Amino acid sequence: MKGMILAGGLGTRLRPMTRVTNKHLLPVYDRPMVYYPIECLVNAGITEIMIVTGEENAGDFIKLLRDGSELGITRLEYAFQVGEGGIADALKLGRHFVGDDKVCVILGDNIIEGNIKQAADDFRKQASGAKILLKEVPDPHRFGVVEFDGDEVVNIIEKPKDPPSNMAVTGLYMYDSDVFSICDQQRPSDRGELEITDVNNEYLKRGTLTSALLEGWWTDAGTIDSLLRATNMVAESGANKMNTNA
Ligand code: G1P
Repeated sequence: MKGMILAGGLGTRLRPMTRVTNKHLLPVYDRPMVYYPIECLVNAGITEIMIVTGEENAGDFIKLLRDGSELGITRLEYAFQVGEGGIADALKLGRHFVGDDKVCVILGDNIIEGNIKQAADDFRKQASGAKILLKEVPDPHRFGVVEFDGDEVVNIIEKPKDPPSNMAVTGLYMYDSDVFSICDQQRPSDRGELEITDVNNEYLKRGTLTSALLEGWWTDAGTIDSLLRATNMVAESGANKMNTNA
């Protein structure tokens, strides 16, 4: 399985810091933010990774990560997303890199305490389709939210005003290579983006979407408050003990 880290965007909610650097290069405790999704993939045995970034400071990723070998990456590719087309638009850039393989996609500002090894192993065995990772949150209106019928996921709603549950869809996704044609079929949402929630709902419709609960804490780090939360959680949990040699 290949890995993709989506690290584009303007990071407007983190201005003024993001006027001079990319959001994913800002520090979270003792490391740049992008190290965390890399660590997450490498820990799950995914060492061929593509980083998608955009207009803001794209060259600095190469300066920081070089060939990725210091972090355990065996093959590192970079892609450039023109404009702000959304997560499913960024994902399309991985088409040739992923080929017929499966892909684990992580939003570059998602930080987790635990690991996704079990979920990745399960998805390697899953014949086809997709897998999403869920986490119960106090503020579901900020996320894609799952609607259940009993234990069964029946719908995913992006940033609902009236959330049907407290179960958020985290920014960690696994797909088969059908994801690229599914992304091609999507139309922009009201916020002008190709939504990953629409892609996940298409897999749900096909009956090939599975889900797992993420163990340990999970946070995004795209706002001042969540960046502080992420920093504190990393500092307190000892997740800062990663041996990176970098
Ligand atoms: C995105 C997704 C949303 C998901 C969230 C996780 O939201 O659209 O479904 O729950 O990432 O971080 P955005 O970062 O675009 O607000």
